[in-house]
Amino acid sequence: MTAGLPPGAGAHDDLLTSILHGVPGGDLPAVLRRLREAAPVYRSGLGPFWVLTRHADVQAALRDPRIIKGDDSVADLITAPGFAPRAVPSVTKSPALVFLNPPDHTRLRSLVSAGFTAARVEALRPRVEEITAELLDAAAAQGRAEVLGDLAFHLPVRVIGELVGVPPEDRAQFRALVRASAVALEPGADEAAVVAADRAAKRMAAYFGALVTERRRAPQDDLVSALLAVREGDQQLTRRELVVTVTLLFSAGFETTMNLIGNGLFLLLSHPDQLERLRRDPALLPTAIDEVLRYESPVQVDGGVTTEPVTIGGVTIPEGEWVLTLLGAANRDPAVFGPDAEVFDVGRHPNPHLAFSSGIHYCLGAGLARLEGSVLFARILERFPALRLAPGPPPAWRPGIVFRGLERLDVELGP
Ligand code: HEM
Repeated sequence: MTAGLPPGAGAHDDLLTSILHGVPGGDLPAVLRRLREAAPVYRSGLGPFWVLTRHADVQAALRDPRIIKGDDSVADLITAPGFAPRAVPSVTKSPALVFLNPPDHTRLRSLVSAGFTAARVEALRPRVEEITAELLDAAAAQGRAEVLGDLAFHLPVRVIGELVGVPPEDRAQFRALVRASAVALEPGADEAAVVAADRAAKRMAAYFGALVTERRRAPQDDLVSALLAVREGDQQLTRRELVVTVTLLFSAGFETTMNLIGNGLFLLLSHPDQLERLRRDPALLPTAIDEVLRYESPVQVDGGVTTEPVTIGGVTIPEGEWVLTLLGAANRDPAVFGPDAEVFDVGRHPNPHLAFSSGIHYCLGAGLARLEGSVLFARILERFPALRLAPGPPPAWRPGIVFRGLERLDVELGP
């Protein structure tokens, strides 16, 4: 332990390292539980950052205005001892909602919310149904599917593509670009990953910049045109804000939703009693979706940096230190979810999980993600009563901690 650090600092860096760099064998929830039980407000010895794993502490931190976003703090975290030294992805310095603080965040969020309305999301429902039917038709013809590549990628990318106004022929390229951006946000990413992310960010900015120019010239019934039209008093999105926002909506909306679908189908197929329960009572679908979000949260990490000393869970975190909130750990905290917090229960209610974060950065796309997940799960269960995991080794989790998802998920659809 380094001098000047609180007692216990660094004592569980073995657990932390395996969480941040990937858990061998994939039992992340077990390691999160061990850290939560051993040191719920934990000061790492790897650098100036703290790790919160209890629900109450994570929620308090996410809602605390003294814990803010900031590109310098991201740099502090990912270049801290214990991590390979490297640059910070350029996207963390862009005026994207996720990286902004009030008052800029407040202004931008209000403008974006005015264009990305619940009504605009609900209006997508018929298209979500049609796209789902097309994808399931194609899979049915094969008799089997690799869920992530055949279904879980295509649904969100097509839905967001239509929402934003990206023509179908342009959508395929985004899988690699968004994946490159996501990988570089992982604490364990290397310099090559950051270079690839910056290149991907440039290509997306150029693409969406051209799309904005096009929609300014000839507006259509899509989100880019709606955001161009938003005005609140004398406020309007600048061109750069618009390009960055559209890129964010596009990126934030599919890696995450893809993992909701993949994690959800895997959970249902590996808990046959819960699958059966949901088939018998489809009215449980909304609680089942929330239980998937809780149990295998697609985004595991959130956080910010302290602007002054902040006391959380009885421990005072000094000014200027990074606070990592581990959403997946909070989502299995028995203090909130009871003694069966580790049980996957499709009827769980209430379910105050933090998978969409909490506070001012609460996910703007939660309604859209729920819509896509519920349509896909409903139709796949209805249509394939014999759906099951394909024989073979169990699916593997992708390395990394920010996004939690499977490498691939092979299923047999049955007759
Ligand atoms: C299951 C799917 C999803 C999950 C688990 C998820 C999770 C999250 C989380 C944890 C945050 C907070 C990030 C932070 O504070 O750094 C967030 C923010 C955000 N999400 Fe999602 N998300 C999902 C789907 C979507 C979709 C479909 C969209 C849009 C099409 C979207 C757009 C956004 C945006 C714009 C923000 C930033 C909000 C702000 O900073 O004010 N997300 N999401």
